[in-house]
Amino acid sequence: MKNPVSMSRRDFVRLGAGSMAASLTGKNVTILESSVLRGSPRPAPSDTVRFGIIGTGTQGCNLLRASRAVPGIECVAAADLYDTRHESAKEVLNKNIDTTREYRRVLDRKDIDTVIVAAPDHWHRRLVVEAAQAGKDIYCEKPMSHTVEDGFAMIDAIQKNKRILQIGSQRVSSILYAKAKEIWDSGRLGEVDTIEAVWDRNSDSGAWVNPIPPDANEHTIDWNTWLGDAPKRSFDGRRFVSWRCYKDYGAGLPGDLFVHLISGIHYITSTNAPAMRAFSTGGIYHYKDGREFGDLQWTIYDYPKFQVVVRCNQNNKYEDQFFAFYGKKGTMLIRGEGAPAALGAGASLVFHAEPEFHTRENYSIGSWPEKQRQEYIAEWNREHPRPAPGSDKVESEQEIYTVPDGYSDLVDHLANFFQAVRTRKPAAENEAFGNNAALSGCHMSNYSYFNKTVALWDSASNTIKTA
Ligand SMILES: NC(=O)c1ccc[n+]([C@@H]2O[C@H](COP(=O)([O-])OP(=O)(O)OC[C@H]3O[C@@H](n4cnc5c(N)ncnc54)[C@H](O)[C@@H]3O)[C@@H](O)[C@H]2O)c1
Repeated sequence: MKNPVSMSRRDFVRLGAGSMAASLTGKNVTILESSVLRGSPRPAPSDTVRFGIIGTGTQGCNLLRASRAVPGIECVAAADLYDTRHESAKEVLNKNIDTTREYRRVLDRKDIDTVIVAAPDHWHRRLVVEAAQAGKDIYCEKPMSHTVEDGFAMIDAIQKNKRILQIGSQRVSSILYAKAKEIWDSGRLGEVDTIEAVWDRNSDSGAWVNPIPPDANEHTIDWNTWLGDAPKRSFDGRRFVSWRCYKDYGAGLPGDLFVHLISGIHYITSTNAPAMRAFSTGGIYHYKDGREFGDLQWTIYDYPKFQVVVRCNQNNKYEDQFFAFYGKKGTMLIRGEGAPAALGAGASLVFHAEPEFHTRENYSIGSWPEKQRQEYIAEWNREHPRPAPGSDKVESEQEIYTVPDGYSDLVDHLANFFQAVRTRKPAAENEAFGNNAALSGCHMSNYSYFNKTVALWDSASNTIKTA
């Protein structure tokens, strides 16, 4: 397997956004323009979209923060089962809004057009289906579904009620990924048979070792409702904050991170179907804390035209996030914001054109007699003339892109959703896209991991089968 870290080091080492001018002198670096701030006119105040939010935990608060940068929208209500998070929502918005433990109170409000669903995965289906039935458009966090059946039930509810749904893998609205898609669509990569995606996160946050808030208990949290359809159990602060570790509520690394990576790959490659086959392996190597999902997981996917290898690791000091697309005419590397400082902070994309000349085989001819070898080399060189020195196209065809300081793909993703709400055109990451990303990224991967078998997608029955 090629090693994208060593391949890309030369390129990325200079990409620190802050020191860009000094360090990238002579390099063809393009800082992409933020799309939210470009183009569409600011909506009139009378055209403000009022929204409610269900779940104002970590991501709910991130989304509320991002919402402040999106023109023409206003949060007016928040539901969360943990009272303290009502205060968090108001603090983030810096205003008083209607807060409640009862999500139905948000869905029943006639003056609310849209809702954001940022509750844990095991609640997505019920909240999306009920919101669609209540006539709301919905931004629902990734992964779309907690089970294969959930996703299809959600598609059904969205389509029956003619609602807009956006799933929250924000890469799908990233200006960096839009550039990667443009390069893919241009055919400049040539035929691509190998795609790699890695996200290594060794930190307490990355490994879901979240602190339990000091006031979290069965009086401040409606724990019984939080459990939803999961088996009843007495209050457990660890499950409440680290729900990703447990099958009843989350989906481990595939649900948390693979889905993001697969969404990025599906978007760039215009894939709108789950992989045909997936094989996953991994284990719990470090966090032996009772979790049910691995802290290391790999999945190899077969798609019709390429193979994808995804890896996430939580037990090594190296933090990084990258994609590599290996084409016959070019290589494209995307590095995420979590890249190590030595490789340059900030998200970046590098495209290299591959050399057009062939390389002579040089190993086996070591056993040839000298005269025979020299004749072969001379003949080979005649048949494969190299570009004249200085005309080598490789360097000049290297392109580097990065995002402006402070760029947020979350803001763009949210803005795209509200634009879809206004135009009634499908959102960037609509129900079909979100479902397919969850099927590959989350469910096929975990099916294979837990059943120790190859997972096959059966499109006739919409189920995963054993190979
Ligand atoms: N797009 C991203 O980058 C990103 C990042 C983090 C999390 N997420 C996703 O966002 C979702 C939430 O994750 P989180 O990290 O914020 O979790 P969290 O535990 O920090 O917050 C979830 C909140 O939802 C509330 N809640 C649960 N069930 C509810 C219900 N029925 N009604 C009202 N409130 C309810 C909980 O009380 C909690 O406050 C997950 O699906 C996760 O995968 C996405």
